[in-house]
Amino acid sequence: MSRARRQILGAFFGAIVLFLFYLHYHAKNDQFLLSRPASSPQSEAQQDKNQASNGVSPKQSVWRDLPLRYPVTDMQKVPVKSRNFPRIQTADQESPYLRTEVQRKRQSAVKESFQRCWRSYRSLAWGADGLTPISGLPTNDRGGWGARLLDSLDTLWIMEMYEEFEEAVTAIMEINFDVTSSPEVNTHDLNIRLLGGLLAAYDLSDDPRLMVKCVELGDMLYAAFDTPNRMPIIHWNLHKASRREEQLAEENVLAAELGSFSLEFTRLSQITGDPKYFDAAQRVMDSFDLRQRSTKLPGLWPEYMNAREQLFEGDEYTLGAAGNSFYKTLPQAYALTGGQMPINRRMYESLTLATAGHNLFRPMNPNEEDMLLLGTVRVFMTQNGKSRTHLQSQVHYQSCFAGGLFALGGALFNIPAHKRIAHKLVDGCIWAHKTMSHGIMPKVFDAVPCASQVHCPWNEWHWKQEAWKKANSLKPELASDFNIDTFIKDHHLPKGFIDIPDTVSELRPELIESIFVLYRITGREDLLDEAWRIFQSFNNASATNYGNAAIVDVTFEGGNPILSDSVDTFWMSETLRYFYLMFGPCDLVSLDDFVFNAAGHPLRRP
Ligand SMILES: *[C@@H]1O[C@H](CO)[C@@H](O)[C@H](O)[C@H]1NC(C)=O
Repeated sequence: MSRARRQILGAFFGAIVLFLFYLHYHAKNDQFLLSRPASSPQSEAQQDKNQASNGVSPKQSVWRDLPLRYPVTDMQKVPVKSRNFPRIQTADQESPYLRTEVQRKRQSAVKESFQRCWRSYRSLAWGADGLTPISGLPTNDRGGWGARLLDSLDTLWIMEMYEEFEEAVTAIMEINFDVTSSPEVNTHDLNIRLLGGLLAAYDLSDDPRLMVKCVELGDMLYAAFDTPNRMPIIHWNLHKASRREEQLAEENVLAAELGSFSLEFTRLSQITGDPKYFDAAQRVMDSFDLRQRSTKLPGLWPEYMNAREQLFEGDEYTLGAAGNSFYKTLPQAYALTGGQMPINRRMYESLTLATAGHNLFRPMNPNEEDMLLLGTVRVFMTQNGKSRTHLQSQVHYQSCFAGGLFALGGALFNIPAHKRIAHKLVDGCIWAHKTMSHGIMPKVFDAVPCASQVHCPWNEWHWKQEAWKKANSLKPELASDFNIDTFIKDHHLPKGFIDIPDTVSELRPELIESIFVLYRITGREDLLDEAWRIFQSFNNASATNYGNAAIVDVTFEGGNPILSDSVDTFWMSETLRYFYLMFGPCDLVSLDDFVFNAAGHPLRRP
């Protein structure tokens, strides 16, 4: 090692030691206690006001008492009146098939799966953010406040596990958002999972204790909006924020993450009577609305944006891959605000128009089924300065939410064409499950788009040719004895697939969410059997001693797939919740009474 390098390293470690001292100096009782600013007279007045209006008494908190650098002067109010909506759920709920013993048995199998996971969490990782499903160790990657508790609370209520619910609420009341074990958080994730979970549990149970926690967490997240343009920070450092350091919105951030605060913040304003949360989220919506028609693919927002300058300049347009949460917010936000915010409807309509025109494609498949899948569109400039679009027929599991989006929008805004699209989108993702040997769709695959959505005959030669082209594009120098049939067999490509770039299954919720929404809206009964098949495929392949684990390769041979020692919190709190609701009676969390946030938490429509 050179001398200069050693000096640099020495300085680096010195800086770390100084930083640790600094943290230590700032800590009071706990090593990670966040700094508390001197409380301002304004916040005390606010505290009194809240006490008066809710009958709850928020204790002193870092976040509640944090003075704003960029206060808001013209606050938007939450709409109070609601227009009459058409009934969304199908009137035909008395069908005998729905009431049979079969559905009840399916529902209890789902509950059994959830209970197994919950018991492990309770005994091995109580109060942690999660549990590794193979080694049985607690994990803390979401602030360390017990994300699993908050995220599962409404499921416990919905599954009628009331004792466990009570025990979880008691633990949640002990959570202190002024203390953290991991100060780098993702505010989008905390909002949809933790705040969404608390709000849903409050809406279902009417337990006033939960309202106190909603406000505490809401006030913390509100501090992330204290930037010059009031756009929130997604990758957020709690220490810096609590010390009231200058905050700027990020220059490169997922648009969907920035855009999906509106349901939780609207609901929080509705239940507290304090408009500040709604106002904060609505500013982001307004910014998205203003620029929706001037992106490179008008109607859609690019995957990444510059929040600091409020610029949407990217070239990649998809509803699928990195963040679908914003798009599904739009019809839900319209319903939650009682139809009083036309902006949500307008954005939904432009969005779906652009999607239907550019992103949807019909996959060529052996049974010539009329289905749709959702791909990514890339916009590029030709040499003469015109912009062109290119559809990439690569399908991400997350894009399976789109069936639910079109179903719900079609029902709320009475657009029959959207319901037809919804059926085909759901069928497309069901096909992608069924055509795999173990019935589990991989995280990412490539399909062959038909030239026409009307006429799409199966052509085996064409499929193989596309697979060959794909293989060649990934590895330009194919061996001279390259044989496409061997290649297809070795890569376990089912007919119609030309590549599986990511063979993982994270046990994701997007498809069952869409199946559930479409089923509740149309009453299509075959969806019950499809859902059951998917649940069994997931559960059979992924069960471990301590719950369920993500599957590393869904193209596995034989009975035992390789599992990863991790599973996302959405398996318990979204995937299993939607399966449970699917097999339950239609008035169990009805779409006419609730909207589902991006993490599947049901919030009550006023
Ligand atoms: C899952 O396992 C159950 C019980 O062993 C079996 O009856 C069922 O057919 C399996 N289903 C799937 C889709 O693998």
